[in-house]
Amino acid sequence: MSEAVIRVESLSKRYRIGGVSGGTGQAGYASYGSLRESLSEAAAAPLRRLRGEPRPRPNEIWALKDVSFEVRQGETLGIIGRNGAGKSTLLKILSRITRPTQGRVTLRGRVGSLLEVGTGFHPELTGRENIFLNGAILGMRKAEIERKFDEMVEFAEIEQFLETPVKHYSSGMYMRLAFAVAAHLEPEILLVDEVLAVGDAAFQKKCLGKMGQVAQQGRTVLFVSHNLPAVIRLCPRSIWLDRGKIELDSNSEQVTAAYTNAFSQAVDHVELPPSPESPMRLRGITILDRNNKPTTRIEASEPCRIQVNYDINRDVVGAHVICFIQTSEGVSLLGTGDADCLPDQLGRREPGTYLGEFEIPPSLLGEGQYFITVSMGVPFVQVYDRHEMILGFEIFDNQSSQRQWQHMHRQSILGLELPWIVSKIN
Ligand SMILES: Nc1ncnc2c1ncn2[C@@H]1O[C@H](COP(=O)(O)OP(=O)(O)O)[C@@H](O)[C@H]1O
Ligand SMILES: [Mg+2]
Repeated sequence: MSEAVIRVESLSKRYRIGGVSGGTGQAGYASYGSLRESLSEAAAAPLRRLRGEPRPRPNEIWALKDVSFEVRQGETLGIIGRNGAGKSTLLKILSRITRPTQGRVTLRGRVGSLLEVGTGFHPELTGRENIFLNGAILGMRKAEIERKFDEMVEFAEIEQFLETPVKHYSSGMYMRLAFAVAAHLEPEILLVDEVLAVGDAAFQKKCLGKMGQVAQQGRTVLFVSHNLPAVIRLCPRSIWLDRGKIELDSNSEQVTAAYTNAFSQAVDHVELPPSPESPMRLRGITILDRNNKPTTRIEASEPCRIQVNYDINRDVVGAHVICFIQTSEGVSLLGTGDADCLPDQLGRREPGTYLGEFEIPPSLLGEGQYFITVSMGVPFVQVYDRHEMILGFEIFDNQSSQRQWQHMHRQSILGLELPWIVSKIN
């Protein structure tokens, strides 16, 4: 059996959030606050170490808490979990962008990583320069990079933009180049964070294919994704992170099933804090039954409505909300967007708080568990905010004629009853 190339031992990461002064902008006050903070932290640290457990404070958050696992050479490991679970923090620590607060990471081999937009490239440098820079960071010689250069450019489909600084790239182009570089520079360990959230379907497919190839060459891959079918297909094993801790580490079918199952006691609405830095931000989502009552259980023969509450914090042009209805395996059944109905699709949207709403017609979905993913931004250009499988609901069927025939219950995703015409022809 091959040995561990990634060893993560009792890894914890603490972030301070919100700042001390609540945004007064007074440098003196802020530095007094942080000095006070670091003094009290220094005083408390030995005690906490004795107890073995650092104390979280109200303005601190543990993005990771006591996470341990090993990955063997050639393994493809999936990492799943809700927004804020600590997935990106884990990959940032593994790629040495952030330091852990506690614990240890041991890596054997050259690491290539494709993290969230903005971490890999230098914005002022051109596509060409960034390829060479990244290669150098990975410890490759110039000749080695040159040998791979054309392949990367072709994969990323950015020939015309090679001499353009990457800050002018669209997020799709940026992602394509970032993926091409990470996957082609032959890292021994490849870390991939949510690439599939951006980019079009064709490119996603290309990335998944390339990752499969990388894995087959005996390299080690860590793949963070909300695309559960892709995780199951690519990764024999997965880790489910929840609020900074490992909830489950097992084979991917088991882990993804447990993960989606956890939503079944789901809440009937989600509220999120405002985030003025972002041009467009989800604030809440609710499922309403036909009596306008929030619910997570819907009778199949009745309609329900999904309400999406969001802030537009800056003037944005052509920005829209898209909701996906997904099965518990993460398969997307339907994508629906307000662009289909807003009169001016490329219009300017004024800052403010908005409420979008759509109806899921009766009998569309069969009995089962479903999830909603919300994405907002300018389609094909920029994702401002995205929340995967943020809300779950269950369709049950007490009323339809199927009920009378339950002994021959037909399991299927769609619950539509199709008109049959039966005639005796002989
Ligand atoms: N630089 C940071 N400063 C403060 N908090 C952070 C920072 N980065 C991440 N966090 C917080 O840490 C938690 C984990 O974040 P992240 O690792 O990005 O989760 P995920 O990738 O699973 O969505 C979240 O609550 C997030 O708000
Ligand atoms: Mg993340």
